[in-house]
Amino acid sequence: MEFDDSESESFLPQPISSVIGKRRIISNKFALLGWILAIISIASNFHSWITPKKLTDIECTRQLNAWSPVFDIVEYEDVQFSNTFYQPSAYRGKPTPKLEKSWSDLWKIGSVDVPLEQLPALNKSKEHNWFYSENGGVLAGLEVFHSLHCLDMVRQYTYKDEYDYSDNPTFQDDDEFLRIHVDHCIDALRIRLMCYADVTPFLHVLEPEAELGATPDFNTQHKCKKFDKIQEWQRAHHARAAAGQTEAHGHEVHGHEHS
Ligand SMILES: *[C@@H]1O[C@H](CO)[C@@H](O)[C@H](O)[C@H]1NC(C)=O
Repeated sequence: MEFDDSESESFLPQPISSVIGKRRIISNKFALLGWILAIISIASNFHSWITPKKLTDIECTRQLNAWSPVFDIVEYEDVQFSNTFYQPSAYRGKPTPKLEKSWSDLWKIGSVDVPLEQLPALNKSKEHNWFYSENGGVLAGLEVFHSLHCLDMVRQYTYKDEYDYSDNPTFQDDDEFLRIHVDHCIDALRIRLMCYADVTPFLHVLEPEAELGATPDFNTQHKCKKFDKIQEWQRAHHARAAAGQTEAHGHEVHGHEHS
């Protein structure tokens, strides 16, 4: 008797045919598992791709600022400002020697050293007539202290007819330059305020006696760099001018006590 192939297959003994069937089911199961794993892995890759990695505070600082020698010690704290209209403050009111000292203690703090290899990170060329420090770097100030110096100076200028600033180096310039210095300071603060663009909302409190029936609540919530730590670091890393270098002239160095 002759059978064609298809018939011979259908007449194979039962056990063999069922083994082949089982193999098919098993390999199908593996294929399914493979697909599931592939889908899970794609999904998890996609998830980590669309979910940004959570940066630490200091990683954010590094990402959002030009290089600073102070990065390593920068720490943040949550602060609610105390800034009402009649807030008592060591920095408000008519000048007294004590009040003047409170202000100058904020920023009269000396210079630091910026190593030459960090200049590109500050978008500065090494090929320039920099004022060198005794450590071989460039003598530098920190912007926060320059800003505070500027604010202090503007404050003093508003009181210059009521308080004797003749001992103050800043006020020894002639009136014309003094005016230029104050205007420089106002612009310096404007540039910073616009650059940092603090977008924290301040609310309004109902107050029937107030002109508009409400008064702003300037006690806003902030995440602040710990200022004391920065001052502490700056004092511990006081840099001096390299020997044989003349003191730079002009107002730029008034903010720093060169020794
Ligand atoms: C670097 O400084 C130059 C001015 O000297 C400026 O034109 C340029 O935009 C600065 N680079 C960056 C990335 O800001």
